[in-house]
Amino acid sequence: MSRGLHPSSHLLAAGALAIFAALTCGASTTDSGPLDPAFDYHSYANVDQFRTTHLDLNLRVDFGFKTITGSVTLELKRLDPRSTQLVLDTKDLMILDVMQKATDVLGATAKNQTIWVSRPFHLEKPDPILGSALVIDLPPSKKGTESIKIDYETLESSSALQWLTEKQTARHKPFLYTESEPIGARTWIPLQDTPQVRATYKAKVHTDQGLRAVMSAESDPKAKASGDYSFVMPEAVPSYLIALAVGALEFQETGPRTGVYAEKPMIKAAAKEFADTESMIQANEKMFGPYRWSRYDILVMPASFPEGGMENPRLSFITPTVIVGDKSLVSVIAHELAHSWAGNLVGNATWRDFWLNEGFTDYMESRIMAAVYGEPRASMEAVLGFKSLQTDLAKLKPADQILAIDLRDRDPGDGFTYIPYEKGRLFLSYLDAKFGREHFDAFLRGYFDHFAFKSLDSEQFISYLQENLLDRYPGIVTRAQVNTWIFSPGLPADAVLPVTTLFQPVDAARDAWLAGKLQSKKLGADWVAQQWVYFLDGMPPTLAAAQLADLDKAFGLSKSPNAEIGHSWFKLVIANNYQPAFPHLEDYLKTIGRRKLIEPLYESLMKTPAGTEVAKRVFAKARPGYHPETVKAIEAIVAPKEETSE
Ligand code: BES
Ligand code: ZN
Repeated sequence: MSRGLHPSSHLLAAGALAIFAALTCGASTTDSGPLDPAFDYHSYANVDQFRTTHLDLNLRVDFGFKTITGSVTLELKRLDPRSTQLVLDTKDLMILDVMQKATDVLGATAKNQTIWVSRPFHLEKPDPILGSALVIDLPPSKKGTESIKIDYETLESSSALQWLTEKQTARHKPFLYTESEPIGARTWIPLQDTPQVRATYKAKVHTDQGLRAVMSAESDPKAKASGDYSFVMPEAVPSYLIALAVGALEFQETGPRTGVYAEKPMIKAAAKEFADTESMIQANEKMFGPYRWSRYDILVMPASFPEGGMENPRLSFITPTVIVGDKSLVSVIAHELAHSWAGNLVGNATWRDFWLNEGFTDYMESRIMAAVYGEPRASMEAVLGFKSLQTDLAKLKPADQILAIDLRDRDPGDGFTYIPYEKGRLFLSYLDAKFGREHFDAFLRGYFDHFAFKSLDSEQFISYLQENLLDRYPGIVTRAQVNTWIFSPGLPADAVLPVTTLFQPVDAARDAWLAGKLQSKKLGADWVAQQWVYFLDGMPPTLAAAQLADLDKAFGLSKSPNAEIGHSWFKLVIANNYQPAFPHLEDYLKTIGRRKLIEPLYESLMKTPAGTEVAKRVFAKARPGYHPETVKAIEAIVAPKEETSE
């Protein structure tokens, strides 16, 4: 695949750096040549010449046409006075006009009027993953700052947007949301779509009266639903954290700096489920330093939301499937909250370094869960996470088992496996165990302070680790051991694995039940959700229909309000072709859009001809309700396109 345009001066610099990197650490060399760890292969932006410092958005959200129309004004620093081309990222965007503030070129104008001058621009040939580079010609200038305004419109195919019709939401009102991570921001804003660049932003959003717009920014929860909203994001964030949602949203406070937004039918249950959010923030602050984003609110998404959660700053987007009634799945909140430190405050510079976001966050999630709900709960969750990692390690090719994964010429979404999450978590748990909690926590606090509001790559992390942990307490962990964790496939032999005693009774009960020595109704009187998931996931490949019927009758698994238990149950249902539960499976696949929950079910259905029929039929019905990225992922499972060679 061709990567289209690369400003040649950058390529030269990149080449020199890459050779250095290949000599100094584990940077990989593939057919694509040596890798430059500091280069973001998923952006066209010429960040060595220009850097965005601030964005001003003025957007109209039109549900009738399913478009966002408006403008973005980028404030940029020109790092290289000789550069006369600004390259931005776009995908599926109509660029209507590009203008430059006249004062930037002509000097001050009368009466402080802002006069905009059109600038020549063109879109490069689109790449299926990266989209089209927007190339803007600018006159030379020594001023060092520019304001560029772009008028644009999104297309219905914009893959970061999901437009839900009245029928698809709890309130029977339309809903729109964005999901910008990793490279979706360019499908609704033309910008430098790379996490290497951080900018503050302001936005004005116009939409239908009665609907409320919210963003990953400061906003007024008590504002009237007038259809006109203003937002300010005073902290500099990478593009993937710019987020917008519009719907019939209500707000309820859950603490002095926390609250939930949801459609009315969900709001009470959501506020109850997420009542511990303030305790979670305090627990994390105590361990890892202050929460630096003032408020932390939660937006309950429509069920089609493709993720469990998304850490949009000040406003995490959360799947409604975690609202169970018993707080059993609130680790998702602990996770998204932990991103306020790992990722949002100190974040990955490129998608190769995604583990710096997710591995750190998973580790901190465990620490929050232990602090608020006790060590036993956190350990069970860590063991379940480790089991998922083992499944992935058995499936993924060695190159994809590496924390600092080479994603050149690939969709950065390909890196979204359990490796960055669970292997990353194990790496940090290893350092925690080796250096001791006191030293390790102090190290992490220092790390968040040192890199606050900055992005870093894996190599920069290693240098920092060397200086502030390995060298400070010598003789404990070597650089070579660290490199093995970050650049080698599999797991090091001395990894410190999570353990729990709480799954032992579950194993014993499962064995007894399978041997016919324990009746279904005697099972798990005091089990929590994690134990049920473990119970179901540990079943042998084949069960008799009578055994499944018995379990379902005793515990209503087909209608479980807990989507994680439902997921584990339906895996058994499919593996055993247990027909009576298929109508419930169909409902599950039609209502839930969380990829982690539904993709494995489609994959499992595709293993038999009869299952394939079901998968195709259900997907055809469910498809209009799924997010565009989910459609793409399920399509690849259910109706894979023939590999074409370019
Ligand atoms: N940042 C991720 C979601 C994400 C990852 C979106 C990659 C797009 C591309 C989020 O923080 C996350 O990890 N969500 C998990 C939550 C879980 C680990 C508790 C999810 O969605 O399953
Ligand atoms: Zn995450």
